[in-house]
Amino acid sequence: MKIIKPTLREIIDIKTVLKPYVDEGIILNRSDDEIATNIRSYQIVYDKKRPIGVGALHIYSPYLGEIRSLAVNKEYQLKGIGKELVRNLLKEAKELGLKEVLVLTYKKEFFEKLGFVEIQKEAVPDKKIWADCIKCKFFPSCNEIALITYL
Ligand SMILES: CC(C)(COP(=O)(O)OP(=O)(O)OC[C@H]1O[C@@H](n2cnc3c(N)ncnc32)[C@H](O)[C@@H]1OP(=O)(O)O)[C@@H](O)C(=O)NCCC(=O)NCCS
Repeated sequence: MKIIKPTLREIIDIKTVLKPYVDEGIILNRSDDEIATNIRSYQIVYDKKRPIGVGALHIYSPYLGEIRSLAVNKEYQLKGIGKELVRNLLKEAKELGLKEVLVLTYKKEFFEKLGFVEIQKEAVPDKKIWADCIKCKFFPSCNEIALITYL
C-alpha cells in the first residue's frame, strides 16, 4: 500500500474510488475539470496498481483548510487506511502553514478518533456553502456534522 500525489492522469482513479459514494449521495460529484483544477489537493492510496483510497485537502484561507472527498474502497475499510490518509493530509496541512482543518461528514466518530471536535455548522465558511453545498441533493437540510482540528 502506498499514498501518492496524483497527476492529471490519475483523475480516472480518483473517480473510480469515489463513484460508489457519489452514487449514494455521501460524497459530492465533481467534474473532471473541477478535479483537474484542484489536482494538487488530492492524495490517492494504491494497493499495487489498484486505487483504493482518496482524500483531498482544500485550502480556503491562509488559516483554514478542509478535508473533502475522503473515501476508502469498501473491501479495504477498517484496516487503518482512512486514518493513514487523514494523517497524511493533516501533515501536508501543517507543512503548508494552515492552522485549522475542517470537515463536513456523517462519520463523526471516525474523525473524533483523529482529534477533530464538533463545531456549529454556522462556523462553516460561506464559500463552502455556496460553492459546494448548493450542488448537493440534500441542500439545505443535510445531516452532516461539522468538525475541526487545530494544528
Ligand atoms: C470514513 C472512511 C474513510 C473510514 O476509512 P477506513 O479506512 O475504513 O477507517 P480506518 O480503518 O482508518 O478507521 C480508523 C478508526 O475509525 C474507526 N471507524 C472507521 N469507520 C468508522 C465509522 N463509520 N464509524 C465509527 N468509527 C469508525 C475505526 O474503527 C478505527 O478505530 P480504531 O483506530 O479505534 O481502530 C470510510 O469508512 C469510507 O470511505 N466511508 C465512505 C465515505 C465517507 O463517508 N467519507 C467521509 C466523508 S468526509
